[in-house]
Amino acid sequence: MHTCQHQTVYQKDYSAPDYLVETVELSFDLDPELTWVASRLKIRSNYDRAQGLRPLVLDGEELTLVSLKLDGVELEPARYTAGDGALTVTDPPESFLLEVTTQISPKANSALSGLYASGPMLCTQCEAEGFRRITYFTDRPDVMAVYTVILKADKGSCPVLLANGNLVEKGDLPDGRHFATWHDPFKKPSYLFAVVAGDLVHISDRFTTMSGRQVNLEIYVEEKNQGKCDHALRSLIEAMRWDEEQFGREYDLDTYMVVAVDDFNMGAMENKGLNVFNSRYVLASPETATDDDYQAIEEVIGHEYFHNWTGNRITCRDWFQLSLKEGLTIFRDQEFSADMQSRPVKRIADVRLLRSSQFPEDASPLAHPVRPDSYVEINNFYSMTVYHKGGEVIRMLQTLLGREAFRAGMDLYFERHDGQAVRVDEFVQAMADAGKRDLSQFMRWYNQSGTPVLTVSDDFDQASGVYTLTVTQSCPPTPGQAEKEPFHIPLSIGLLNRQGRELPLQLEGEKSQGAITRVLELRQETQSFRFTGIASKPVPSLLRNFSAPVKLVYPYSQDDLTLLMTSDSDPFVRWEAGQVQAVQVIMGLVREIQAGGTPTVPEAFIGSFGTLLTDQRQDRAFLAEALTLPAEGYLAEQMKVIDPAAIHEARELVRATVGERLRAQLVGARAACAPKSPYHPDDGLAGCRRLKNLCLSYLMAPGSREAIGMAMEQFKNADNMTDSLGALATLAGCDCPEREEALEAFYRKWRDDRGVIDKWFSLQATSRLPQTLDRVLELLDHPDFDIRNPNRVRSLVGAFSQANQVRFHDAEGRGYRFLGDQILRLNGINPQIAARMLTPFSRWRRFDAGRQELMKKELERILAEPGLARDVYELAAKSL
Ligand code: PHE
Ligand code: ZN
Repeated sequence: MHTCQHQTVYQKDYSAPDYLVETVELSFDLDPELTWVASRLKIRSNYDRAQGLRPLVLDGEELTLVSLKLDGVELEPARYTAGDGALTVTDPPESFLLEVTTQISPKANSALSGLYASGPMLCTQCEAEGFRRITYFTDRPDVMAVYTVILKADKGSCPVLLANGNLVEKGDLPDGRHFATWHDPFKKPSYLFAVVAGDLVHISDRFTTMSGRQVNLEIYVEEKNQGKCDHALRSLIEAMRWDEEQFGREYDLDTYMVVAVDDFNMGAMENKGLNVFNSRYVLASPETATDDDYQAIEEVIGHEYFHNWTGNRITCRDWFQLSLKEGLTIFRDQEFSADMQSRPVKRIADVRLLRSSQFPEDASPLAHPVRPDSYVEINNFYSMTVYHKGGEVIRMLQTLLGREAFRAGMDLYFERHDGQAVRVDEFVQAMADAGKRDLSQFMRWYNQSGTPVLTVSDDFDQASGVYTLTVTQSCPPTPGQAEKEPFHIPLSIGLLNRQGRELPLQLEGEKSQGAITRVLELRQETQSFRFTGIASKPVPSLLRNFSAPVKLVYPYSQDDLTLLMTSDSDPFVRWEAGQVQAVQVIMGLVREIQAGGTPTVPEAFIGSFGTLLTDQRQDRAFLAEALTLPAEGYLAEQMKVIDPAAIHEARELVRATVGERLRAQLVGARAACAPKSPYHPDDGLAGCRRLKNLCLSYLMAPGSREAIGMAMEQFKNADNMTDSLGALATLAGCDCPEREEALEAFYRKWRDDRGVIDKWFSLQATSRLPQTLDRVLELLDHPDFDIRNPNRVRSLVGAFSQANQVRFHDAEGRGYRFLGDQILRLNGINPQIAARMLTPFSRWRRFDAGRQELMKKELERILAEPGLARDVYELAAKSL
């Protein structure tokens, strides 16, 4: 049953391209039903022809070949073959002009890869291998060419015609059609190609670069969304300025365009000079977007902009090197957001995400190194590991080298490799050279999968005043990697005395050092560090700022944790101490529940929660993070055999107890955060709103009438989506008559706004109420649900299966059946989205025997499906 025709691609099999394409001229006759693409490729061979001639093999999928000419002469059928993913010219000369005309059907393209229709427009998505769905080409990133593009379309329905680079010419054509010619002077790989055509409006601004060049900034949207682009435009300007200030990088074309489309598989795409964005990362207004939405827009706008240097000017040699651009660009966008918002809060959010999504991936059958060794479908490797663990790997380089040397390494990388397609090795080499460091052991972070575990023990010798920290590293086995070599790990630490004062850190044998934070470098399986001049046994503050993507084990006592929470200078450690405490408490309750006892929340926990809640010195945004309990998914990670029902019950018990016992403090904290002026996304009060909504959710946990009244009042009177949604979320989880009333009112108000309706879907899908799955099944038939739209699928199917652990893991397997059905439905429509939906099933081994059987059955049912897409096949097969 698991035999399959799908081929595996191995990194070790890489060879340089046989043919290079120097220039590309593409002419599009655009029409949603049937588009003609005429291409003229200047090609030359790139191998030693004395060793024997090699055929030219061009990739191509879902194309209808119309004509094929070599140096102006129609090719005879004997000299080429077409079909099965490729066009092969058997005996091409050394250099030649190839002219290929093909036909494609954008409207029939539901995979959203290649040229497709999104609402009233046509747009492209080429990364990773979508260009071959537009025309025959050497569709690999190490073939870089200069492109000229002519677009022809109906002027009435497609007044706007965009492609990469600069507009050279435009004009009218007969029959109500018109054309535009674009030229991109920068050599680029095919995955960065883009075209957009439609009835769009744009808002614009200008940016003067550090060398004084003027750049036009343009954001294109459907007319109804014209008023929702300001934040994206402002974010773009901030990002451009930031990259100049922080990395000395300047933009290089005269125009930077961003287009928002409703149908998009991912977040956004960094096409040269013409980014295409999922509309959810562009459109915002106070009434329709939450603070988190505003934040996400800034982040994604930054991310795509930063790709212009880390991705576009210097690109990947092959797709195994994906983290070269993605890990690095994630790191850059994280730093940008940290500088624009609160650095500690941003770091905490990033760690939360890594732990809740990447750690589980690293512990699953789908674990893979940041630089994978093989793949069946490259789209499956746009993963948390490649992106976010990849970002942590870059951050570790900065920690090891220090900011200055890291920046010098970046400069050297740009200087050496601008215009090239390179490997991760070239990047790390630039860092090694600039930092004068040997980073060969560090490369294991790219080649070994799995989350390392650091086990720390300590010893204090009163007589000598020496405190010894001993660190042992290990890494669990992962697919294809039973044994791991030790990693090179930066472990940032401090030491606190019992009064909470930070001690100067002096290692034995060193001259006086005095620093209160130091980065210890781990390279061996076990290492000891001896600190001298210590008067009494200190409390270690470990993994400051989360200096490495590892799990840390140290036997902290409750007193140690309280000391760190209140006194440590590192905000991450302060937050983490609280999370560790919460995990201990909740896991204790889980054990009691499993043993059939009557669990109660320890007094001490309620006490310290109350102290924190009323602590006036803390930044509100930080406080909100500190008072947020670890998510059910993260708690699940702490169990050998996951018990979703017990985790839910235990966590809810803590929430309800807090809500009851600390009612007055919660009401007070909430009131202190009540708005004093009309909402503005940049009013600096997002932290306040978060805290206020968090207080409301605790108050709602016991479900009192009083709290429901507060929620309804907030819901009705909010002047912004953050507060409106904050209230509605608590109501959606409440078994009370107000629930339907509020959901209904919200729908009536926002039925014409797709982005808001997505929120409406996901609120219902993530409700912890027992009847949620029935509601989700009903919503599948809702007129606003559309299985072909990825945002809608994510907001309903994705939200239920990935963000509602207790309801998805229904013991009878109804949740599993539902997900299996949806994946099979999506398989024929959009394989990438179908594959993304498989993630929850890949974790099946972590559950009890009953759930294991049920999930396995679904995976087997999926694998038995005839015509399974490569994307889905790979993940389902590897999961089993
Ligand atoms: N390269 C895009 C980014 O990270 C993501 C993407 C991948 C978009 C594949 C579409 C398709 O910014
Ligand atoms: Zn990216």
